[in-house]
Parts: sequence; structure tokens; C-alpha cells
Amino acid sequence: MQKSISLADLRKEYQMGEISPEVLAADPLLQFQTWMTQAIEAEQPEPTAMFLATVNSQGLPSGRVVLLKEVNPQGFVFYTNAQSRKGSEIAQNAAVALTFFWVVLERQVRVEGRVHWIDEAIATAYFQSRPRDSQIGAWASPQSQPVPDRETLEALFAQYRQQFEGQALIPKPPHWGGYCVVPEKVEFWQGRASRLHDRVLYNRQTDGSWAKTRLAP
Ligand SMILES: Cc1cc2nc3c(=O)[nH]c(=O)nc-3n(C[C@H](O)[C@H](O)[C@H](O)COP(=O)(O)O)c2cc1C
Repeated sequence: MQKSISLADLRKEYQMGEISPEVLAADPLLQFQTWMTQAIEAEQPEPTAMFLATVNSQGLPSGRVVLLKEVNPQGFVFYTNAQSRKGSEIAQNAAVALTFFWVVLERQVRVEGRVHWIDEAIATAYFQSRPRDSQIGAWASPQSQPVPDRETLEALFAQYRQQFEGQALIPKPPHWGGYCVVPEKVEFWQGRASRLHDRVLYNRQTDGSWAKTRLAP
């Protein structure tokens, strides 16, 4: 018989670092860049993986993991299929949230804001930089739609591979592209001992500057 593990008894003391509003950067996007670099250097697996939460027009939430592909002064960029469930929910409601968890550094970052479809030329340049099979996959997969079986997907992939054979450049599908999450709030969380974690919330002000507040854990 399989040994049962008590989830309630799993416990870990966090003690890798500390933060305060005084020591974090004035701009949360710059602070985020620093933490992302540190997560990569600390060999956090999939450091760019982030949980994207969307909410549909009925107020029902859904979440999934996507990969962060760029952070720029405007916000956080990821790529996907606009006809997917997330794309449809974003079309209904542009308010989204992102969550990063870097376990090796005992850190979490939460982002809340509004999302927009990025410039087609930028998305096309990124699409062209992807491996050829990923480009074919973007054409072949009707993301989030029911499919009868695996063979159907493989047949679609084979069909597009044949269609683009001998063609040096595969065009970006019109329904595939990038979204940029423009933050209104960004929270940095650092695990501390005795569950007295450090939390610093940045709130965007009307003049575009950021106000920092410490939150109770
Ligand atoms: C580590 C990881 C990275 C992923 N990256 C992406 C991504 O960058 N873009 C994407 O569309 N889906 C990505 N996915 C798949 C999504 O989690 C999800 O299954 C898919 O986008 C369909 O979601 P939806 O039906 O809510 O639209 C990733 C999944 C994992 C586990």
C-alpha cells in the first residue's frame, strides 16, 4: 500500500533574504529585472514561467502557465494564440494577473494590470526567431479547442509541414501573437522565518510614478 503523506505536516522555514520598501528600486520593472536575473543565476528551473490569470465576462477566473518573453519599460510580454481560451477571456476583459514563484530564492512576484495585443511587426520578428517546428505547431494547433484524438493533431501538423515545405520563411498566423501586461500593481514577496515574510507593493500613481507600501504577510 502506498504510504500516505500528511500535507499538513510539510513545512519549510524561509531564510534566504529580506526586502523593504527602502532597499527596492523606485521602478518595479527594474526591480523585476534584477530578481529575474538572480532567479536565472540561481538556476531556478523555468524562471520565466508565470501563472496568467484571466477573468471572463461573467466574472469567472481561469489560470494557466505561460512563458515571459520580454520585460520592457511598458510591461511583461508573452506569446500565444488569440483564439485560445485565454485569448477569448482577454477579449472579454483586459484585466489580468501574473504570478511568478522562484522557489530556489523563496520569492514571489505578483503583477496586476491590463493587457493589450502587441505590434504585429514585433510579434512577427519573434515568431521568425522560433524553431521551424514551433512555427508549424502554431499553425497546426487550434489551441483550447476539443480534438478527437492525438492522430488528428499529428495529421494537422503533417499537413502544415507539407504546405510550407521548401518555403524558407513561414508566415506568422494572424491569430498568433504577443500580449503585453501593463502593470498597475506589482508586489514583491520574500519568504522570512516564522512566516513573517516581507511584502512590498508598488502602486502606480496618476503621474506615472510608483508608491511603495509594506504589506503584512
Ligand atoms: C512551463 C509552461 C510554459 C507554457 N508556455 C506557454 C506559452 O508561452 N504560451 C502559450 O500559449 N501556452 C503556454 N503553455 C501552455 C498553457 O499553460 C496552456 O495550456 C495553453 O496556453 C492553453 O491555455 P488556455 O486554454 O487557457 O488558453 C505553457 C505551459 C507550461 C506548463
